[in-house]
Amino acid sequence: MTGPLAGREPGVSLLPADAYTDPAVFAAEQSAIFENRWVWAGYTHWVAEPGSSRPVTVAGRPLLITRDPAGQIHVFHNICRHRGMVLSEEPSTRKRLRCPYHYWTYDLDGGLCGTPYWDRRKGSAPDDATKDALGLIPVTHAEWAGMVLVALGEPVRPLDETLAPLRQRWAPVDLDRLHLAAEDRYEIAANWKLVVENFLDFYHLPFVHPQVGPAAAALDIDDVVLAEDILGGCYPRGAAGKASKTETPLPAFGDVPAALRDRQDIFCLFPNALLFLEADWFQVIAFEPVTPERTVEHMAIFVDRSAAGPEFSDARKALSTVLFEVNDQDVPILERLQRGRRSPAADRNHLLPSWDQITARFQTLVASAMEGHR
Ligand code: FES
Repeated sequence: MTGPLAGREPGVSLLPADAYTDPAVFAAEQSAIFENRWVWAGYTHWVAEPGSSRPVTVAGRPLLITRDPAGQIHVFHNICRHRGMVLSEEPSTRKRLRCPYHYWTYDLDGGLCGTPYWDRRKGSAPDDATKDALGLIPVTHAEWAGMVLVALGEPVRPLDETLAPLRQRWAPVDLDRLHLAAEDRYEIAANWKLVVENFLDFYHLPFVHPQVGPAAAALDIDDVVLAEDILGGCYPRGAAGKASKTETPLPAFGDVPAALRDRQDIFCLFPNALLFLEADWFQVIAFEPVTPERTVEHMAIFVDRSAAGPEFSDARKALSTVLFEVNDQDVPILERLQRGRRSPAADRNHLLPSWDQITARFQTLVASAMEGHR
């Protein structure tokens, strides 16, 4: 037996119960974890049309994702450069965003374009250098697999290095072919770490989600550690969740080899993107930690773009129904796990070496990221 739990005494928890409830821990995690890595900020389809924008929050900071008229995605701090008001609070299709306080306006590429009564005279404006200097402040970002990832500070690992293990493993899958099949938002009264831990807990699958199939099949899963911050598992011999299959099978994402057609990968891209991949569907559960005991999830289900038409509507619907049903079943479990963390008795959780090594790795990763921050 290898892994973080090998040789440990029973009754010892890797993270104490108050790590899931304490506002000071939550605040420290925002800076120690969410500000110094590549993190999920939103979906590219949230700004599908040129000339659209959507406010998001990462590490408690208001950000703005835009797609300019030329089609390029940008991410900015969602803060007016005059007095620091949050610029945008709703998704928008306006080509210019206007601050409600003194009506400064910005183009979707971040440029400042309107500053009424700049020097008290009607029609006055700043000189070009001043105007250029007062555009929205950009945030380092990237697009990958339908997601917008951001780095608020100096990430502990460059993006290419972060994603390399997934890109290599999923090389046969063409993730440029994603078509959004369904999406939903969940408000969950639980700490973000429980959301991840439940995602990594394969042991509960046949008990909480009996529709995924018989227990023997649901538990026939391998733990997989792709990198320190890419943890999860794989059904190599035929994925659970076959209940979603219909008479019209969904097409694969490109030319996926037959040997991989039955495989289901389940990976946490630490800290806040939870990814499921089969040859013919891709699911992301990404989340925003809001308070120590509240997390907002944004779940999106993708199929191949050739399955966008009406002939596949039943197949898309069947898939979405099963995946949403699974998530619906997890919500009360998460909230009950959270209530358990209000007891110091939860310090004495007994992670099983046979089932909880991946969860233990996640907790170890959190604990090491938090060293010196508590
Ligand atoms: Fe935005 Fe003044 S704070 S225009």
